[in-house]
Amino acid sequence: MNRIVVIGSCNMDITVLADKRPTAGETILGNELHIAHGGKGANQAVAAARLGAEVTMVGCVGNDVYGEMIRTNLINNHINVDYLVTLHDVTTGTAHITLAEGDNSIIVIPGANARVDENIVDNAWPAIESADLVMVQNEIPVPTIEYIVKRCHAARIKVLLNPAPAADLNPDWLELATYITPNEHELSALYPSQDTTETVIAHNGQIIVTLGSKGVGYGADGELRIIPGFSVKPVDTTGAGDTFNGAFATAIVNGESLDSALRYGNAAAALSIQALGAQEGMPTAEQVSAFLADAT
Ligand code: ATP
Ligand code: RIB
Repeated sequence: MNRIVVIGSCNMDITVLADKRPTAGETILGNELHIAHGGKGANQAVAAARLGAEVTMVGCVGNDVYGEMIRTNLINNHINVDYLVTLHDVTTGTAHITLAEGDNSIIVIPGANARVDENIVDNAWPAIESADLVMVQNEIPVPTIEYIVKRCHAARIKVLLNPAPAADLNPDWLELATYITPNEHELSALYPSQDTTETVIAHNGQIIVTLGSKGVGYGADGELRIIPGFSVKPVDTTGAGDTFNGAFATAIVNGESLDSALRYGNAAAALSIQALGAQEGMPTAEQVSAFLADAT
């Protein structure tokens, strides 16, 4: 009963570490190049699989070295890749990350991720219809996200929509998702003319806003309830949100309460940001249990 299907992006993350960000027209020397597995979909799949969920990845890669590396990495993380499609006329998605001055900035080239369409979803339906939870993010085309949310809602399949990166999605179908997990910036993009705290409160546990080191917030009994984050020294916060989502989803399909699942997500994310790269620091269930035991 812990089957998760992730329908989303797979990227290679090409990260440059530097002391500062260059200004427009400036050339500077960086310190290090780091090439590693990423993409919000694949990251969330790996986070959930490391924590013991039975995960299927639905998405697209190109017929190139990065596509092969991504497939192998998912298999090495015990993820079913039966519905990971290799396309022959497009390159694998890449993310170009600058890590400087304690924060990241990212340009994503979607490549094959832009080709995740209704057909890809329909072909994967045998896996999707037997899932305990489906996860989707904003790195595939919006019409596909809409199709997934509506079709899963009609089939009574739980959906966690992580609306990252920020986009203005139509609330008419957005709110058919079981859980919506924006960060503060993404929340403002979803509800541009509304007070964000009031929006979270009004959605009564459906919207979970991630608050960086402060943890997460959701609405309960007409108030904003905060589940605090854990105090750690971050090395690289790339993928913190993905680890949180993968861990939260795993705890939910394992039958945990909302508060307990959110605390679990915070713990896994706090552990993950202590290593360079989105996936390297993602913890196992044993590591999260030990961390939580130490924290109490
Ligand atoms: P990213 O885009 O970097 O993956 P995000 O902007 O989607 O992250 P955040 O709200 O920054 O999401 O972080 C997600 C979760 O990760 C937080 O809710 C928290 O649990 C954890 N987290 C992030 N930063 C820190 C930190 N500095 N210390 C402890 N926990 C953190
Ligand atoms: O959420 C982090 C991810 O966003 C990175 O792995 C990068 O691929 C971008 O898609």
